[in-house]
Amino acid sequence: MAMLSLQAVVLSALLQNAWSINSRFPPNFKFGAGSSAYQIEGGWNADGKGLNIWDRFVQEIPSPIMNNDTGNVAADSYRLWREDVKAAAQMKLQFYRFSLSWTRILPSGFTNEINKAGVKYYSDLIDALLAEGIEPVVTIYHWDLPVKISDLGGWTNPLIVNWFGDYARVVYSLYADRVKTWLTINEPNVMCDLFYNTGAYAPGIKEQVYGPFLCNKYVLLAHAKAYRIFAEEFRPKYIGRFSLAYHALWIEPATRRDAALAELGRQHQLGRYSYPIFSKRGGWPPSIEKLMLKVSLAEGYSESRLPSFTEDEIEFIKGTADFYGMNHYTSYLIRPSTPEDEPGIWFLTGSPELRATLFYPPGSSYGAASIFPVYPVGIRRMMAWVKRQYGDIDILITENGFSTSGYQLADFGRVNYIREYLEQVQLSIEVDNVSVIGYAAWSLIDSFEWTDGYTTKFGLYEIDFNDPNRTRTPRLSANYYACVIAARSLDVKDSCWCED
Ligand code: BGC
Repeated sequence: MAMLSLQAVVLSALLQNAWSINSRFPPNFKFGAGSSAYQIEGGWNADGKGLNIWDRFVQEIPSPIMNNDTGNVAADSYRLWREDVKAAAQMKLQFYRFSLSWTRILPSGFTNEINKAGVKYYSDLIDALLAEGIEPVVTIYHWDLPVKISDLGGWTNPLIVNWFGDYARVVYSLYADRVKTWLTINEPNVMCDLFYNTGAYAPGIKEQVYGPFLCNKYVLLAHAKAYRIFAEEFRPKYIGRFSLAYHALWIEPATRRDAALAELGRQHQLGRYSYPIFSKRGGWPPSIEKLMLKVSLAEGYSESRLPSFTEDEIEFIKGTADFYGMNHYTSYLIRPSTPEDEPGIWFLTGSPELRATLFYPPGSSYGAASIFPVYPVGIRRMMAWVKRQYGDIDILITENGFSTSGYQLADFGRVNYIREYLEQVQLSIEVDNVSVIGYAAWSLIDSFEWTDGYTTKFGLYEIDFNDPNRTRTPRLSANYYACVIAARSLDVKDSCWCED
């Protein structure tokens, strides 16, 4: 016993030593934070902006949003964006990820009209960030689809491929001189599911048979279109690196017997959206293509509900990313469904196609958004999986964060979360040799949290939503994160204030 504990002491001393040698983040690793247009901007009808699906969804009666909240004003970043830049500069962020509101730039969604005030808004924001030495990382689309396009079928209509391409072309012509990192579409996997399958998010369509799968195909083609327009029309003049921001939920087998199911689950959740772009072969992940055909025929359909690609489409999509954008929050366990289970519909519950159920890892802790168990090792396993699947590609963590509720500046839970997840990121870099090039904390400031309204808060900066000035106040986590950034290391105190 005494012998064992001596070994343990020596081992831990060795590990600590090794740890302290490598505790600094590599020089190419960048720290940032993120936001999205609908969640922070407000100004829903200001200066010629057109209507998007969230502007309309929040007006439904009864309201689909907690407390009847809306994003009409939100953090008022349309007016107060200089305060956001100030917050980002206070923490010495190296990049700020924000999204463009499609209808603020193109009010109808189409190129017939360009809204000068909207164009200027983002142009000023980009200039102000650059003046502070903060790189703008721009998401072209983060869920706020123009209503006109949505009413024509949105992401299930093949014509969206060209409409999105047209929008992207306008955006490049305005900002590609200053923006070098682009995320075309935020979380296509969550979007297709919550928009068209569960219908929990705007536009609220519950069509589980074809909805999510048509969206899956056209979102990939639309992304590829935007990528290729840049490559052909802008690349000669401008540098630009592209990806999507995937919702990368790590799925583990509940028991050893479930290992194959877990892999199928990952392919169904994430592979369907990233294999066509990042794999050498292109097209759908073979295991999913096979499964979907089998399930669809058994259900009596004449062909797979997962629409096929032509050879040209496969080639068109393949290779259209320069890095892997990864939003990662949490991990789930998977097991085969039983007859007692609620019929699974995919995101965070399970899948009828797989006959699988997802559930929380036992013993996990949670933030306020109780669908997100805290499971730090999941981020490392997720990144190792991406490397195994698609090779040694750069990974940019485009979102990672912890939710709280109520007003709370001393957010120790968020500090712990950031530290524990970043520890795992360091292990990915140093032990697994994964090329992680940066990390964006979600989110810079408290935001409209979709159907949770303002009850759930992810911000490093707190906002009082009852205060017309929407004052931004740094939480403990903002100070902690600023210290990590200054030290480029996790070797800082949890209750560190920037002046320490
Ligand atoms: C979305 C964000 C959202 C966050 C926290 C992500 O899936 O991209 O818009 O705020 O989750 O719920």
